[in-house]
Amino acid sequence: MPARVFNFSAGPSALFPEVRSVLGADVAGGALLERASRDAEGPVVPLLHATLRALRRVLGIPDTHSVALCHGGGLAAHAALPLNLCRDAADSAAFLSTGVWSDRALAEAARFCVPHIAAASPTRALLPTAGGWDTDPQRHRFVHFTLNETADGREFHSDAHLADLPAGSVVVADATSTLLSRPVQWGLYDVVYASGGKNLGPVGVTVVVGRTATLQRAAAERRRAVPAVLDWHANAEAGSALNTPCVFALLGLKRTLDFVERKGGVERMQAEALQKSTLVYNTLDDHARVFAVDAPPDCRSRMNACFKLRSPADTRDFLAAAKDAGFVGLQGHAERGGCRATLYNAVPWTAVQRLAAFLRGYAVHSVVA
Ligand SMILES: Cc1ncc(COP(=O)(O)O)c(C=O)c1O
Repeated sequence: MPARVFNFSAGPSALFPEVRSVLGADVAGGALLERASRDAEGPVVPLLHATLRALRRVLGIPDTHSVALCHGGGLAAHAALPLNLCRDAADSAAFLSTGVWSDRALAEAARFCVPHIAAASPTRALLPTAGGWDTDPQRHRFVHFTLNETADGREFHSDAHLADLPAGSVVVADATSTLLSRPVQWGLYDVVYASGGKNLGPVGVTVVVGRTATLQRAAAERRRAVPAVLDWHANAEAGSALNTPCVFALLGLKRTLDFVERKGGVERMQAEALQKSTLVYNTLDDHARVFAVDAPPDCRSRMNACFKLRSPADTRDFLAAAKDAGFVGLQGHAERGGCRATLYNAVPWTAVQRLAAFLRGYAVHSVVA
């Protein structure tokens, strides 16, 4: 493999150079990791506060919503959903089944509530629009969906479809692999959560943005105990310092937010995601004798471009050739196979151009051969 590689993995993913440097010669980062996390005079508390402020600024989070920086990643959030929002295990919640990650959310939540599938999208089909979701706020404590299916390569590109949901619905979204890549209409959501290792920087901190009134009401109505570490309202109230914050991940998140802000914010990230994904999909479509994209054009993920070759042997050959050329992380998710080029914010345009050139070259060569 060449000395310089281009990381196209869905996570842990590429990091901005400034974030990556935390691991290396950055002495300030090293010192910070050793400082007391409760010391108001020390560097950790201001970092925590600055990160929360930066999140609000960069994502445009309104005062109606509180922010909690939690531990445990997406998997903990999947369990936290019913624990926070249902009164007890007999309550029902609606789930949209659109791929690997929405189904994993459902499976974990099913341990703590009665799940109901509000709509399902068969492989290759469009994502169902909210008007067709079978959900009723009288019967379902919340409705959950996954904004970007990381493993399947399908994405809701905007929040417009949510206007069709019945009034009174408590709307919850897993935004793990899309937060920070486009603006969010916060008023349409009760809870949006995103785990690290994608656009937010290194793994270790989960961002939970919740409508304060919804979380307060749910906490008052609960008939069972919730582990403090999974209690979103308690974490937000405690300024995300209920227990020791994960300082390393916090620093990575803060630097990521600073970088995005300097580059022009989420609007700029959105434009870049469109540009990068358009180049990759156009290249794949131009060589349809070699590559196939299952997702229909209007829901193709701008974050994870999933594609296949004609056979598993061809896929293996392609991945080996890609690795030799310095492209890593292009294998598809274990449950889906095939290939996946992840295009998160920190994946540079030059890397995407190089990938597109490689895809073209590989396709031309294999058609001739
Ligand atoms: C959409 C989505 N949700 C949840 C997760 C799980 O996150 P974690 O590994 O932090 O539990 C992932 C991981 O890739 C994901 O892509």
